[in-house]
Amino acid sequence: MSQTHQVDVLIIGAGASGLFCAIEASKRGRKVCVIDHANKAGKKILMSGGGRCNFTNYTVDADNYISHNPHFCKSALKRFNQWDFLALVQRYQIPFHERLHGQLFCDHSAKDILHMLLAECQRYAVSISLQCSVLAVTADDGGGFRVQTGLGVWHCQSLVIATGGLSIPKMGATPLGYQIAEQLGIKVWPTRAGLVPLTLQPADKDIFATLSGIAVPCEVSVQNSRFKENLLFTHRGLSGPVILQISSYWQAGEALLINCLPDLPLLNLLKQQRGQGSKLKLKTWLAEYLPKRLLQALLPEQLLELALVDCSDKQFQLVVNHIQAWQIKPNGSEGYRTAEVTVGGVDCDALSSKTLESKKHPGLYFIGEVVDVTGWLGGYNFQWAWSSGWCAGQYV
Ligand code: FDA
Repeated sequence: MSQTHQVDVLIIGAGASGLFCAIEASKRGRKVCVIDHANKAGKKILMSGGGRCNFTNYTVDADNYISHNPHFCKSALKRFNQWDFLALVQRYQIPFHERLHGQLFCDHSAKDILHMLLAECQRYAVSISLQCSVLAVTADDGGGFRVQTGLGVWHCQSLVIATGGLSIPKMGATPLGYQIAEQLGIKVWPTRAGLVPLTLQPADKDIFATLSGIAVPCEVSVQNSRFKENLLFTHRGLSGPVILQISSYWQAGEALLINCLPDLPLLNLLKQQRGQGSKLKLKTWLAEYLPKRLLQALLPEQLLELALVDCSDKQFQLVVNHIQAWQIKPNGSEGYRTAEVTVGGVDCDALSSKTLESKKHPGLYFIGEVVDVTGWLGGYNFQWAWSSGWCAGQYV
Protein backbone atom coordinates (compact mmCIF):
# COMPACT_ATOMS: atom_id res chain seq x y z
CA MET A 1 0.00 0.00 0.00
CA SER A 2 1.39 3.43 -0.87
CA GLN A 3 2.41 5.68 1.98
CA THR A 4 0.53 8.92 2.68
CA HIS A 5 2.37 11.99 3.95
CA GLN A 6 0.87 15.19 5.32
CA VAL A 7 2.96 18.37 5.28
CA ASP A 8 2.26 22.09 5.37
CA VAL A 9 4.52 22.79 2.41
CA LEU A 10 5.64 20.46 -0.36
CA ILE A 11 8.37 21.73 -2.65
CA ILE A 12 9.06 19.94 -5.94
CA GLY A 13 12.73 20.47 -6.83
CA ALA A 14 15.72 20.31 -4.46
CA GLY A 15 17.73 22.86 -6.43
CA ALA A 16 18.79 26.37 -5.52
CA SER A 17 15.36 27.97 -5.22
CA GLY A 18 13.59 24.95 -3.71
CA LEU A 19 16.14 24.46 -0.91
CA PHE A 20 16.19 28.18 -0.14
CA CYS A 21 12.42 28.39 0.03
CA ALA A 22 12.34 25.29 2.27
CA ILE A 23 14.77 26.85 4.74
CA GLU A 24 12.74 30.05 4.99
CA ALA A 25 9.40 28.28 5.36
CA SER A 26 10.81 25.96 8.03
CA LYS A 27 12.16 28.94 9.98
CA ARG A 28 8.53 30.04 10.27
CA GLY A 29 7.61 26.72 11.85
CA ARG A 30 6.03 25.19 8.76
CA LYS A 31 6.41 21.46 8.24
CA VAL A 32 8.28 21.30 4.93
CA CYS A 33 9.28 18.50 2.60
CA VAL A 34 11.31 18.86 -0.58
CA ILE A 35 11.06 16.11 -3.17
CA ASP A 36 13.29 15.57 -6.20
CA HIS A 37 13.63 12.79 -8.74
CA ALA A 38 17.42 13.11 -8.77
CA ASN A 39 19.65 11.03 -6.51
CA LYS A 40 21.31 14.15 -5.10
CA ALA A 41 20.11 17.64 -4.14
CA GLY A 42 21.51 20.74 -5.88
CA LYS A 43 23.31 19.07 -8.78
CA LYS A 44 23.34 22.25 -10.84
CA ILE A 45 24.86 24.19 -7.97
CA LEU A 46 27.75 21.72 -7.97
CA MET A 47 28.44 22.13 -11.69
CA SER A 48 27.92 25.90 -11.73
CA GLY A 49 30.59 28.50 -12.34
CA GLY A 50 33.06 25.86 -13.54
CA GLY A 51 32.72 24.13 -10.14
CA ARG A 52 33.17 27.34 -8.15
CA CYS A 53 29.55 28.60 -8.28
CA ASN A 54 29.10 32.22 -9.25
CA PHE A 55 26.53 32.56 -6.47
CA THR A 56 25.64 36.25 -6.86
CA ASN A 57 26.90 39.60 -8.10
CA TYR A 58 27.79 42.84 -6.33
CA THR A 59 25.38 44.74 -8.58
CA VAL A 60 21.99 43.23 -9.25
CA ASP A 61 19.29 45.11 -11.08
CA ALA A 62 16.09 44.27 -12.96
CA ASP A 63 17.98 45.28 -16.13
CA ASN A 64 20.11 42.16 -15.71
CA TYR A 65 17.07 39.97 -16.38
CA ILE A 66 15.00 39.04 -19.43
CA SER A 67 11.25 38.59 -19.01
CA HIS A 68 8.01 39.44 -20.76
CA ASN A 69 7.29 41.46 -17.62
CA PRO A 70 10.57 43.26 -16.88
CA HIS A 71 9.22 44.76 -13.63
CA PHE A 72 8.16 41.47 -12.05
CA CYS A 73 11.53 40.52 -10.54
CA LYS A 74 12.08 43.89 -8.86
CA SER A 75 10.16 43.20 -5.67
CA ALA A 76 11.84 39.88 -4.86
CA LEU A 77 15.32 41.14 -5.78
CA LYS A 78 14.80 44.08 -3.46
CA ARG A 79 13.39 42.18 -0.52
CA PHE A 80 16.11 39.54 -0.50
CA ASN A 81 19.12 40.99 -2.24
CA GLN A 82 22.72 40.03 -2.98
CA TRP A 83 23.90 41.46 0.35
CA ASP A 84 21.44 39.26 2.23
CA PHE A 85 22.77 36.17 0.51
CA LEU A 86 26.35 37.31 1.00
CA ALA A 87 25.68 37.71 4.73
CA LEU A 88 24.71 34.01 4.87
CA VAL A 89 27.83 33.02 2.90
CA GLN A 90 29.94 35.03 5.33
CA ARG A 91 28.18 33.52 8.36
CA TYR A 92 29.29 30.14 7.04
CA GLN A 93 32.78 31.56 6.52
CA ILE A 94 32.85 30.45 2.90
CA PRO A 95 35.86 32.05 1.21
CA PHE A 96 34.92 33.85 -1.99
CA HIS A 97 36.37 36.30 -4.50
CA GLU A 98 35.20 38.85 -7.01
CA ARG A 99 35.85 38.43 -10.71
CA LEU A 100 35.04 40.75 -13.64
CA HIS A 101 31.80 42.76 -13.44
CA GLY A 102 31.21 42.11 -9.72
CA GLN A 103 30.75 38.35 -10.11
CA LEU A 104 31.24 36.48 -6.82
CA PHE A 105 32.68 32.95 -6.84
CA CYS A 106 33.68 30.48 -4.15
CA ASP A 107 37.45 30.30 -3.67
CA HIS A 108 37.39 26.52 -3.24
CA SER A 109 34.30 24.79 -4.52
CA ALA A 110 30.61 25.08 -5.30
CA LYS A 111 30.23 22.32 -2.71
CA ASP A 112 30.60 25.04 -0.06
CA ILE A 113 27.32 26.63 -1.19
CA LEU A 114 25.44 23.32 -1.36
CA HIS A 115 26.80 22.25 2.05
CA MET A 116 25.64 25.57 3.49
CA LEU A 117 22.12 25.08 2.12
CA LEU A 118 21.94 21.49 3.34
CA ALA A 119 23.26 22.51 6.77
CA GLU A 120 20.51 25.13 6.99
CA CYS A 121 17.93 22.53 5.90
CA GLN A 122 19.13 20.25 8.66
CA ARG A 123 19.16 23.06 11.22
CA TYR A 124 15.53 23.89 10.51
CA ALA A 125 14.40 20.25 10.08
CA VAL A 126 13.54 20.37 6.39
CA SER A 127 12.87 16.87 5.12
CA ILE A 128 14.28 15.98 1.69
CA SER A 129 13.10 12.95 -0.31
CA LEU A 130 15.29 12.09 -3.27
CA GLN A 131 14.69 9.68 -6.15
CA CYS A 132 11.06 10.60 -5.86
CA SER A 133 9.28 10.84 -9.20
CA VAL A 134 6.12 12.90 -9.46
CA LEU A 135 3.23 11.04 -11.08
CA ALA A 136 0.28 13.42 -10.69
CA VAL A 137 -0.61 16.78 -9.13
CA THR A 138 -4.22 17.57 -8.32
CA ALA A 139 -6.12 20.00 -6.13
CA ASP A 140 -7.30 18.40 -2.85
CA ASP A 141 -11.03 18.49 -2.12
CA GLY A 142 -10.62 20.30 1.18
CA GLY A 143 -8.15 22.86 -0.24
CA GLY A 144 -4.45 22.35 -0.76
CA PHE A 145 -2.88 19.83 -3.11
CA ARG A 146 -2.38 16.12 -3.56
CA VAL A 147 0.86 15.00 -5.13
CA GLN A 148 1.17 11.40 -6.14
CA THR A 149 4.76 10.14 -6.40
CA GLY A 150 6.72 6.95 -6.70
CA LEU A 151 7.28 7.19 -2.92
CA GLY A 152 3.66 7.67 -1.91
CA VAL A 153 1.10 10.45 -1.80
CA TRP A 154 1.73 13.87 -0.29
CA HIS A 155 -1.05 16.16 0.90
CA CYS A 156 0.00 19.78 1.45
CA GLN A 157 -1.52 23.19 2.04
CA SER A 158 1.08 24.92 -0.11
CA LEU A 159 2.73 23.45 -3.18
CA VAL A 160 5.89 25.07 -4.52
CA ILE A 161 7.10 24.31 -8.04
CA ALA A 162 10.89 24.74 -8.11
CA THR A 163 11.74 22.38 -10.94
CA GLY A 164 14.06 24.78 -12.79
CA GLY A 165 14.51 25.02 -16.56
CA LEU A 166 15.30 22.57 -19.33
CA SER A 167 19.06 22.98 -19.57
CA ILE A 168 21.31 19.94 -19.12
CA PRO A 169 18.73 17.13 -19.21
CA LYS A 170 21.52 14.77 -18.12
CA MET A 171 21.48 16.56 -14.74
CA GLY A 172 17.78 15.89 -14.26
CA ALA A 173 16.10 18.84 -15.99
CA THR A 174 12.50 18.09 -17.05
CA PRO A 175 9.51 20.15 -18.23
CA LEU A 176 7.43 19.07 -15.20
CA GLY A 177 7.00 22.61 -13.85
CA TYR A 178 5.74 23.92 -17.18
CA GLN A 179 3.41 20.92 -17.53
CA ILE A 180 1.90 21.49 -14.07
CA ALA A 181 1.34 25.16 -14.93
CA GLU A 182 -0.32 24.32 -18.24
CA GLN A 183 -2.43 21.60 -16.67
CA LEU A 184 -3.77 24.20 -14.24
CA GLY A 185 -4.45 26.74 -16.97
CA ILE A 186 -1.47 28.97 -16.21
CA LYS A 187 0.20 30.52 -19.25
CA VAL A 188 3.72 29.40 -20.11
CA TRP A 189 5.80 31.46 -22.54
CA PRO A 190 7.62 29.41 -25.17
CA THR A 191 11.02 28.29 -23.91
CA ARG A 192 14.42 28.32 -25.60
CA ALA A 193 18.02 27.72 -24.59
CA GLY A 194 19.83 30.75 -23.17
CA LEU A 195 23.44 31.45 -22.16
CA VAL A 196 24.45 28.98 -24.83
CA PRO A 197 27.13 28.77 -27.56
CA LEU A 198 25.88 29.50 -31.09
CA THR A 199 26.55 27.28 -34.08
CA LEU A 200 27.41 28.43 -37.62
CA GLN A 201 26.17 27.72 -41.13
CA PRO A 202 28.36 25.05 -42.81
CA ALA A 203 30.18 27.59 -45.04
CA ASP A 204 31.02 29.89 -42.09
CA LYS A 205 31.92 26.93 -39.93
CA ASP A 206 34.51 25.79 -42.47
CA ILE A 207 36.18 29.21 -42.22
CA PHE A 208 35.91 29.94 -38.50
CA ALA A 209 36.41 26.44 -37.06
CA THR A 210 40.06 26.84 -38.06
CA LEU A 211 40.27 29.62 -35.44
CA SER A 212 39.15 27.26 -32.67
CA GLY A 213 40.68 28.29 -29.36
CA ILE A 214 41.20 31.97 -30.31
CA ALA A 215 39.52 34.49 -27.97
CA VAL A 216 39.03 38.16 -28.87
CA PRO A 217 37.40 40.95 -26.84
CA CYS A 218 34.40 42.03 -28.93
CA GLU A 219 31.16 43.95 -28.76
CA VAL A 220 28.28 41.84 -30.06
CA SER A 221 24.76 43.11 -30.65
CA VAL A 222 21.36 41.98 -31.84
CA GLN A 223 18.52 44.48 -32.11
CA ASN A 224 18.85 46.76 -29.06
CA SER A 225 20.95 44.47 -26.90
CA ARG A 226 24.72 44.56 -26.80
CA PHE A 227 27.50 43.07 -24.70
CA LYS A 228 31.23 43.63 -24.64
CA GLU A 229 33.41 40.72 -23.52
CA ASN A 230 35.50 37.88 -24.94
CA LEU A 231 34.34 35.96 -28.00
CA LEU A 232 35.73 32.45 -28.31
CA PHE A 233 35.92 30.55 -31.59
CA THR A 234 35.20 26.83 -31.20
CA HIS A 235 35.01 23.76 -33.45
CA ARG A 236 31.24 24.15 -33.55
CA GLY A 237 30.86 27.92 -33.81
CA LEU A 238 30.99 30.90 -31.47
CA SER A 239 31.18 30.90 -27.69
CA GLY A 240 32.75 32.85 -24.81
CA PRO A 241 30.97 35.16 -22.38
CA VAL A 242 29.89 37.71 -25.00
CA ILE A 243 28.18 35.04 -27.10
CA LEU A 244 26.53 33.38 -24.08
CA GLN A 245 25.12 36.76 -23.04
CA ILE A 246 23.80 37.69 -26.49
CA SER A 247 22.44 34.17 -27.08
CA SER A 248 19.68 34.83 -24.55
CA TYR A 249 18.45 37.69 -26.76
CA TRP A 250 19.21 36.14 -30.16
CA GLN A 251 16.26 34.77 -32.15
CA ALA A 252 16.66 32.16 -34.90
CA GLY A 253 17.31 33.78 -38.27
CA GLU A 254 18.87 36.97 -36.86
CA ALA A 255 22.39 38.12 -37.72
CA LEU A 256 24.88 39.11 -35.03
CA LEU A 257 26.66 42.42 -35.46
CA ILE A 258 30.22 42.02 -34.16
CA ASN A 259 32.75 44.73 -33.50
CA CYS A 260 36.14 43.07 -33.07
CA LEU A 261 37.87 46.32 -32.09
CA PRO A 262 35.20 48.07 -30.05
CA ASP A 263 37.50 50.58 -28.36
CA LEU A 264 39.59 51.62 -31.35
CA PRO A 265 38.91 54.59 -33.69
CA LEU A 266 40.00 52.30 -36.54
CA LEU A 267 39.13 54.48 -39.53
CA ASN A 268 40.90 57.53 -38.06
CA LEU A 269 44.00 55.53 -37.23
CA LEU A 270 44.15 54.02 -40.71
CA LYS A 271 43.90 57.45 -42.31
CA GLN A 272 46.53 58.78 -39.92
CA GLN A 273 48.92 56.00 -40.96
CA ARG A 274 48.29 56.78 -44.62
CA GLY A 275 48.87 60.47 -43.94
CA GLN A 276 52.23 59.59 -42.42
CA GLY A 277 53.10 57.65 -45.58
CA SER A 278 53.26 54.26 -43.83
CA LYS A 279 54.47 51.52 -46.14
CA LEU A 280 53.38 48.81 -43.72
CA LYS A 281 51.05 46.25 -45.18
CA LEU A 282 47.52 46.35 -43.80
CA LYS A 283 47.96 42.81 -42.47
CA THR A 284 51.12 43.79 -40.56
CA TRP A 285 49.60 46.91 -39.03
CA LEU A 286 46.30 45.19 -38.11
CA ALA A 287 48.18 42.25 -36.56
CA GLU A 288 49.11 44.64 -33.73
CA TYR A 289 45.45 44.54 -32.74
CA LEU A 290 43.99 41.21 -33.89
CA PRO A 291 45.26 37.64 -34.43
CA LYS A 292 46.56 37.11 -37.98
CA ARG A 293 44.33 34.08 -38.54
CA LEU A 294 41.24 36.09 -37.66
CA LEU A 295 42.26 38.84 -40.09
CA GLN A 296 42.67 36.25 -42.83
CA ALA A 297 39.21 34.87 -42.10
CA LEU A 298 37.55 38.29 -42.07
CA LEU A 299 39.29 40.17 -44.92
CA PRO A 300 40.15 39.39 -48.56
CA GLU A 301 43.78 38.40 -49.05
CA GLN A 302 44.44 41.11 -51.72
CA LEU A 303 43.29 43.81 -49.35
CA LEU A 304 45.53 42.61 -46.53
CA GLU A 305 48.54 42.69 -48.84
CA LEU A 306 48.10 46.43 -49.66
CA ALA A 307 50.44 49.00 -48.12
CA LEU A 308 48.62 51.54 -45.91
CA VAL A 309 49.91 54.41 -48.04
CA ASP A 310 48.32 52.88 -51.16
CA CYS A 311 44.84 52.33 -49.71
CA SER A 312 41.81 54.33 -50.85
CA ASP A 313 39.10 55.62 -48.52
CA LYS A 314 36.82 52.94 -49.93
CA GLN A 315 39.32 50.22 -49.06
CA PHE A 316 39.69 51.55 -45.53
CA GLN A 317 35.92 51.56 -45.18
CA LEU A 318 35.87 47.94 -46.30
CA VAL A 319 38.39 47.07 -43.58
CA VAL A 320 36.27 48.87 -40.98
CA ASN A 321 33.09 47.13 -42.17
CA HIS A 322 34.66 43.70 -41.93
CA ILE A 323 36.26 44.26 -38.53
CA GLN A 324 33.96 46.64 -36.70
CA ALA A 325 30.63 45.77 -38.31
CA TRP A 326 31.08 42.09 -39.08
CA GLN A 327 27.70 40.46 -39.63
CA ILE A 328 27.25 36.74 -39.23
CA LYS A 329 24.08 34.69 -39.09
CA PRO A 330 24.32 31.70 -36.72
CA ASN A 331 22.28 28.68 -37.79
CA GLY A 332 21.26 27.77 -34.25
CA SER A 333 22.50 27.18 -30.75
CA GLU A 334 24.02 24.16 -29.05
CA GLY A 335 20.65 23.79 -27.32
CA TYR A 336 19.75 22.59 -23.86
CA ARG A 337 22.63 20.10 -23.87
CA THR A 338 25.06 22.89 -23.00
CA ALA A 339 22.82 25.89 -22.18
CA GLU A 340 23.09 27.40 -18.70
CA VAL A 341 19.50 28.59 -18.59
CA THR A 342 16.07 28.46 -20.16
CA VAL A 343 14.54 31.67 -21.50
CA GLY A 344 10.74 31.88 -21.16
CA GLY A 345 8.58 29.89 -18.75
CA VAL A 346 5.69 30.45 -16.37
CA ASP A 347 4.05 33.79 -17.08
CA CYS A 348 4.92 36.39 -14.43
CA ASP A 349 1.50 38.02 -14.80
CA ALA A 350 -0.08 34.82 -13.48
CA LEU A 351 1.89 35.20 -10.21
CA SER A 352 2.10 37.70 -7.37
CA SER A 353 5.47 39.48 -7.55
CA LYS A 354 5.45 39.72 -3.74
CA THR A 355 4.71 36.10 -2.85
CA LEU A 356 5.25 34.18 -6.13
CA GLU A 357 1.84 32.62 -5.53
CA SER A 358 -0.45 31.81 -8.44
CA LYS A 359 -3.23 34.39 -8.74
CA LYS A 360 -5.59 31.69 -9.97
CA HIS A 361 -4.70 28.88 -7.56
CA PRO A 362 -4.13 30.00 -3.96
CA GLY A 363 -1.49 27.85 -2.28
CA LEU A 364 0.41 27.16 -5.50
CA TYR A 365 3.80 28.88 -5.95
CA PHE A 366 6.39 28.99 -8.75
CA ILE A 367 9.98 30.02 -8.00
CA GLY A 368 13.40 30.06 -9.65
CA GLU A 369 14.14 29.36 -13.27
CA VAL A 370 10.76 27.79 -14.11
CA VAL A 371 9.38 31.35 -13.99
CA ASP A 372 9.80 33.62 -17.03
CA VAL A 373 12.72 35.47 -15.45
CA THR A 374 16.14 34.78 -16.98
CA GLY A 375 19.30 36.36 -15.68
CA TRP A 376 22.44 37.37 -17.52
CA LEU A 377 25.64 35.46 -17.04
CA GLY A 378 27.28 36.59 -13.79
CA GLY A 379 25.47 35.10 -10.76
CA TYR A 380 22.11 36.64 -11.64
CA ASN A 381 20.28 33.34 -12.07
CA PHE A 382 21.26 32.12 -8.63
CA GLN A 383 20.32 35.48 -7.13
CA TRP A 384 16.87 35.11 -8.70
CA ALA A 385 16.63 31.58 -7.25
CA TRP A 386 17.57 32.86 -3.74
CA SER A 387 15.32 35.95 -3.95
CA SER A 388 12.24 34.21 -5.33
CA GLY A 389 12.73 31.24 -2.99
CA TRP A 390 13.08 33.54 0.00
CA CYS A 391 9.93 35.51 -0.87
CA ALA A 392 7.76 32.44 -1.35
CA GLY A 393 9.24 31.04 1.87
CA GLN A 394 7.66 33.91 3.82
CA TYR A 395 4.13 33.04 2.67
CA VAL A 396 3.84 29.30 1.98
P1 FDA B 1 17.53 23.94 -10.37
O1 FDA B 1 17.80 23.46 -11.74
O2 FDA B 1 18.66 24.37 -9.52
O3 FDA B 1 16.72 22.81 -9.56
C1 FDA B 1 15.61 22.16 -10.10
C2 FDA B 1 15.46 20.83 -9.39
O4 FDA B 1 14.22 20.25 -9.80
C3 FDA B 1 16.57 19.86 -9.75
O5 FDA B 1 17.14 19.33 -8.57
C4 FDA B 1 15.85 18.78 -10.55
O6 FDA B 1 16.39 17.46 -10.34
C5 FDA B 1 14.43 18.88 -10.01
N1 FDA B 1 13.45 18.37 -10.96
C6 FDA B 1 13.31 18.70 -12.26
N2 FDA B 1 12.32 17.99 -12.80
C7 FDA B 1 11.81 17.20 -11.83
C8 FDA B 1 10.78 16.23 -11.79
N3 FDA B 1 10.10 15.90 -12.90
N4 FDA B 1 10.52 15.61 -10.62
C9 FDA B 1 11.23 15.90 -9.51
N5 FDA B 1 12.22 16.82 -9.49
C10 FDA B 1 12.51 17.46 -10.64
N6 FDA B 1 23.73 30.52 -12.47
C11 FDA B 1 24.43 31.45 -11.76
O7 FDA B 1 23.82 32.38 -11.25
N7 FDA B 1 25.77 31.34 -11.61
C12 FDA B 1 26.49 30.30 -12.15
O8 FDA B 1 27.70 30.18 -11.93
C13 FDA B 1 25.77 29.35 -12.94
N8 FDA B 1 26.44 28.35 -13.58
C14 FDA B 1 25.73 27.40 -14.27
C15 FDA B 1 26.43 26.38 -14.93
C16 FDA B 1 25.72 25.43 -15.63
C17 FDA B 1 26.48 24.35 -16.38
C18 FDA B 1 24.30 25.45 -15.65
C19 FDA B 1 23.51 24.39 -16.36
C20 FDA B 1 23.62 26.47 -15.02
C21 FDA B 1 24.32 27.47 -14.34
N9 FDA B 1 23.66 28.52 -13.72
C22 FDA B 1 24.37 29.46 -13.03
C23 FDA B 1 22.17 28.61 -13.72
C24 FDA B 1 21.64 28.09 -12.38
O9 FDA B 1 22.21 26.81 -12.11
C25 FDA B 1 20.12 27.96 -12.41
O10 FDA B 1 19.54 29.13 -12.90
C26 FDA B 1 19.59 27.66 -11.01
O11 FDA B 1 20.11 26.43 -10.56
C27 FDA B 1 18.07 27.61 -11.03
O12 FDA B 1 17.61 27.21 -9.78
P2 FDA B 1 16.23 26.43 -9.67
O13 FDA B 1 16.06 26.09 -8.25
O14 FDA B 1 15.18 27.17 -10.36
O15 FDA B 1 16.46 25.10 -10.54
